[in-house]
Amino acid sequence: MLIRMERARSSQALRDTSPMDRCAHYTKEPFNHWLVQFIQAPMPQQVVDLGVGGGSLLSAAAERWRHADLIGIDVCATALARLQARLPLAAVRRADLMRGRVLKVLDEWSGSADVVLCNPPFTQTPPEHVQSAELQALLPDGLPASYLKRAEVVFLLHTLRLLRPGGEMGLVLPASFASGNQYLAFRQWLFTRCTVSRVVQLPAGAFAGADVHAFLWIAKNCKPSSHAQVELAFAERDRLMWTRKVHRAHAILRCDASFHGQSPRKVAHVTLAETGARVSRGRSVQELRGKALHYFHTTSFAQLPPNRQLVAGEPEHLGALDLAKTGDFLLGRVGRSCHAQIAEVRSGFTAYSDCVYRIQVPKRWRAAVRASLLSEEGTAWRASRLRGSAARLLALADLLQHPIAIQGKDNDERRSRLVE
Ligand SMILES: C[S@@+](CC[C@H](N)C(=O)[O-])C[C@H]1O[C@@H](n2cnc3c(N)ncnc32)[C@H](O)[C@@H]1O
Repeated sequence: MLIRMERARSSQALRDTSPMDRCAHYTKEPFNHWLVQFIQAPMPQQVVDLGVGGGSLLSAAAERWRHADLIGIDVCATALARLQARLPLAAVRRADLMRGRVLKVLDEWSGSADVVLCNPPFTQTPPEHVQSAELQALLPDGLPASYLKRAEVVFLLHTLRLLRPGGEMGLVLPASFASGNQYLAFRQWLFTRCTVSRVVQLPAGAFAGADVHAFLWIAKNCKPSSHAQVELAFAERDRLMWTRKVHRAHAILRCDASFHGQSPRKVAHVTLAETGARVSRGRSVQELRGKALHYFHTTSFAQLPPNRQLVAGEPEHLGALDLAKTGDFLLGRVGRSCHAQIAEVRSGFTAYSDCVYRIQVPKRWRAAVRASLLSEEGTAWRASRLRGSAARLLALADLLQHPIAIQGKDNDERRSRLVE
């Protein structure tokens, strides 16, 4: 009964918001000021905000550059009315940036902006607009056509069209653009097309109205020099914790600071793959529910005793199911805290969901794998490898690179035997 009431309430909430609101995450203090402060231009004349919303970014710009011409563009009339009340001197323009014919509307500012700020909706471009000849013509060489399906990419292409040569942009993009494999071609293109000076990894609660992992990107509209470095920064709550400079070739691989922030390992180690471990995923929750049996899922980790040992039952239903058994490790695969979720099957058998990894480790490596999985360093390493903007995920390719410390005086002997 209670569950039904919860559902009813949340569907009412959705009806009360526009489709735009559902993908909007509004920049709040101090991140709006950060985006503006990180821009190097001392006195831009023209500052444009694409997807200006209530004007959080443009107001921060107005505080820093008092004499600049401010222009706010958005599809939402209510947002623009609010902006006009907040910044009466700003020019506002209502335009749907995901439609090809918007190009004409923006023509008057094309190539003239000194600074463009943009926190786009993290959503899909409507399929009928992706096909429009005007949007297709915006697509530069080096970017797959499928990228136009993302509103973030469409907004970025508008940003580049508005910027004068050498002008600067401050963008907010979801985490997948900084670390996802699907956006490797995007990073290759952007880091060759523009001089990206800084990428800042924001904390999870950085935005009002959405639980997303996002990054601030600062870049100039000019080609980078061959030795260009990028400053990667890591923020926690409302503080910049540390920064690290990397060559842009490394940033193309991934530009989340947490990935590059891991200190070099001081103890000898091998990777999980090198131990001969086999990693598998379980079945979908839907399929397991249909079989009416007990199974291990992400919610099961919280019920483990402090030593993380799982006493599983006997198989209730063998079927074709792959069951975890004594000596296997179970690890969270998805979710914000999945890097901290570990269990070791002490006895018995259990089915497990596809949100969980099962790791079978050869017996001689089990103690070392257990120690590394449970160690603070191991947990921090997994946290640094998480990907994804909303649902966080530990990818299999990353997990197989998990460092497993080898200790004792037989280190070298074991390592060389392993490499043979
Ligand atoms: C993530 S919010 C950012 C708002 C504000 N700039 C901020 O940082 O708080 C994205 C904004 O894009 C606007 N938007 C969504 N789709 C749009 C479209 N097709 N054309 C123009 N603006 C759009 C929304 O109305 C919303 O104000």
